[in-house]
Amino acid sequence: MIAQKVAIVTGGSTGMGNAVAVDLAKQGWKLVILDINHEAGEKAASEIDGIFFKADVRSWKEQFSAFERTFNLFGRLDFVFGNAGKADVYDYFDLEGTNFSVDVPPNLEVLDINLTGASFTSLLALRAFRRNPDEIKDCLLVLTSSGAGIYPTPVQPFYAAAKHGIIGLARSMGQRHEEEGIRVCALVPGLVPTTIMPKEILDRTDKHLITPVSHIVTAINDMLNGKHTATVCEASVDQLFYRDQPPFPDEAQRRVILEVSRNMGADFKDAREKKAPN
Ligand SMILES: NC(=O)c1ccc[n+]([C@@H]2O[C@H](COP(=O)([O-])OP(=O)(O)OC[C@H]3O[C@@H](n4cnc5c(N)ncnc54)[C@H](O)[C@@H]3O)[C@@H](O)[C@H]2O)c1
Repeated sequence: MIAQKVAIVTGGSTGMGNAVAVDLAKQGWKLVILDINHEAGEKAASEIDGIFFKADVRSWKEQFSAFERTFNLFGRLDFVFGNAGKADVYDYFDLEGTNFSVDVPPNLEVLDINLTGASFTSLLALRAFRRNPDEIKDCLLVLTSSGAGIYPTPVQPFYAAAKHGIIGLARSMGQRHEEEGIRVCALVPGLVPTTIMPKEILDRTDKHLITPVSHIVTAINDMLNGKHTATVCEASVDQLFYRDQPPFPDEAQRRVILEVSRNMGADFKDAREKKAPN
């Protein structure tokens, strides 16, 4: 008997996360929505016979508890869409408009939500995937990045920093866990009409440049049904582009990245073995 597949979608109360949750539920998956938006999350989960856990992705404790409860309920986890995110709260570089002083640090929640929160999600996904009962694993973690994760975005540099971080995380984890049957990809959506996108921006944008939410659902299904890992799926308007790592500029850089990384891996293993209790 094939076990019913289970997914956690962070940021699944609204927007792309919600559209993906609805689609997977229609395909017979069991869905868990993890979001800070309680009202929309409860409603969304009830519409798909899913479960809602209110959690702020910035809180390790809240995310840990939601993942733990999911695994205890279903005994497995097949897919995690680490998608919760928020735009920058203000223009940090407009020093006229910001009120920095020694006592008022800038509000960098954009890094906490988009990068630290997604890093917590990634570790918890890995932990659950490794506990799955299947002999041969086939699990997928997709982290939502952004065009700001590939291209410079002068209006939101810290959002860009967080979303660039997501791409490094997905490509690195993807390579590291491939042999375990755990795939990791980043999603780069185009401009998608969701609540994160101010109406004035959408109104001013040429309609031909907009990526419908349904195309994000297509991108997720493409990753679920394919074998992609350690890569970035850029979903623009009605196209999907898989963006592998940039080529090495020369042999020295190729060897430094590959050999140093391999040697560090050996050092970690060595340190772990030395520390391991008898
Ligand atoms: N809409 C776009 O054009 C676009 C483009 C590129 C990337 N993105 C990214 O896509 C992802 C999904 O956004 P969306 O466009 O569907 O917008 P959205 O605002 O509809 O969805 C974001 C969801 O994340 C949740 N969330 C925010 N902060 C949270 C927190 N601290 N803890 C838990 N949940 C939290 C929100 O409640 C919401 O449900 C985000 O990571 C966003 O940065 C969006």
